Amino acid sequence: MKLCMIGTGYVGLVSGACFSDLGNDVICVDKDLNKIQNLKNGIIPIYEPGLEELVTKNYKNNRLNFSTNLNDSISKSDIIFICVGTPTKKNGNDADLSQVYNVAKEISKSIKKFKIIITKSTVPVTTGDEIEKIISIKVSKNFFSVVSNPEFLREGEAIRDFYKPDRIIIGTSHKKTNNILKNLYTPLTTRGAKYINTSRRAAELIKYASNAFLATKITFINEMANLCEKININIEDISIGIGLDKRIGSRFLRAGPAYGGSCFPKDTKAVIATANKFKTNLTVIKSVVESNENRSSLMLKRVFDILKNKIKNKNICFLGVTFKANTDDMRDSSSLSMIPVLSKKGAKINYFDPTGEKLEFKKYKNVVYSNNIKEAIKNSDLIIIHTEWNDFKNINFKKDVMNKKFSIFDMRNIYSVNKMKYQKIKYFSIGN
Ligand SMILES: NC(=O)c1ccc[n+]([C@@H]2O[C@H](COP(=O)([O-])OP(=O)(O)OC[C@H]3O[C@@H](n4cnc5c(N)ncnc54)[C@H](O)[C@@H]3O)[C@@H](O)[C@H]2O)c1
Repeated sequence: MKLCMIGTGYVGLVSGACFSDLGNDVICVDKDLNKIQNLKNGIIPIYEPGLEELVTKNYKNNRLNFSTNLNDSISKSDIIFICVGTPTKKNGNDADLSQVYNVAKEISKSIKKFKIIITKSTVPVTTGDEIEKIISIKVSKNFFSVVSNPEFLREGEAIRDFYKPDRIIIGTSHKKTNNILKNLYTPLTTRGAKYINTSRRAAELIKYASNAFLATKITFINEMANLCEKININIEDISIGIGLDKRIGSRFLRAGPAYGGSCFPKDTKAVIATANKFKTNLTVIKSVVESNENRSSLMLKRVFDILKNKIKNKNICFLGVTFKANTDDMRDSSSLSMIPVLSKKGAKINYFDPTGEKLEFKKYKNVVYSNNIKEAIKNSDLIIIHTEWNDFKNINFKKDVMNKKFSIFDMRNIYSVNKMKYQKIKYFSIGN
């Protein structure tokens, strides 16, 4: 089939590359000329395991192409995926849908024969209705069908998630469209993925309900960890003890810092805003958002406690600054709220991240990027394990840290409390 992905970011590029690998002709479009030129030269704009090989292979085979020409790419395609960003609006909790609606206007200029227009971007309920309205100003409704097909891939596991999704949600009541999409997804459904056809509005809400539920699980275990810290219980025991109950499930029950990333923070807020519009009070999700927003301050308080409130001139090392491992995505990472506060208090911060130096910290004079773990931890008074990269799981702290009085704050509970005790390292973790 001939596909066009509008927006060549984490979602558009990964899905575009995977769809082309399944034998479709795909054009990935972006308004960012630099990004498209780099892609044509084999330079991948994001860190995602396995993506470079997939892009290179399919670009060489001419099944995957890149373009900045939206109208030409739409004309050449039968199925158009909208994969642009839907960040939180500057004021309030609503999703900013300007990128989606701008694309809808552009699409309406290029429809000459029947097209399926799919929203893969995460959009509030009724956005599909709005897209349909925008396009129908210029185009007869017989010439297009607007579908919601929310994306559930996780950064760091995106390719695996594309090929082995738990479910494919297709929100449409249009029979012909549903049959075409069933065909498109046949290579995945034959491998066991469940194909669920719902109303468009239901598909839109399924995405938000999923993310809000997962955010709730994380927040729940984080709050349990707070309690464990007060009563000398290990949170890992609680996670295992409740996770073995099949009704609960063990995933997303690892206590840690505030959840971050490009989805949970904005999607929990957006679903609250949507519910407000429909005069419904989502009190559970509101509490989750509040609890998570407080969590970075709570983590900072632990840092202050460990350093006995003496932050000035202390050498603090962050191992990992992205919101999770195996991605370079910094959006809403808790390091973005922790590092500036510590820097302002006069700490000397060194950080190392396997995905390299971050623009976000360049403006701070006392925040320095180190090229490797040894360099980063060398002079530390406190090492904060912020992100759960495998690279951080086997460090010989005793050998590599020069300052013999250093402490470790392990925000991911990577190391064993007993082993640290045995090595006489001052070790602090979450929920312990
Ligand atoms: N990142 C994830 O893990 C993930 C997972 C599931 C769903 N989503 C959702 O998918 C959507 C996209 O997320 P993302 O992380 O891929 O975003 P992103 O910011 O990485 O990419 C969006 C791209 O769209 C491009 N763009 C914007 N307007 C355009 C236009 N008019 N024409 C062409 N290109 C345009 C931007 O230049 C950018 O490259 C969001 O709604 C997000 O919530 C993201």
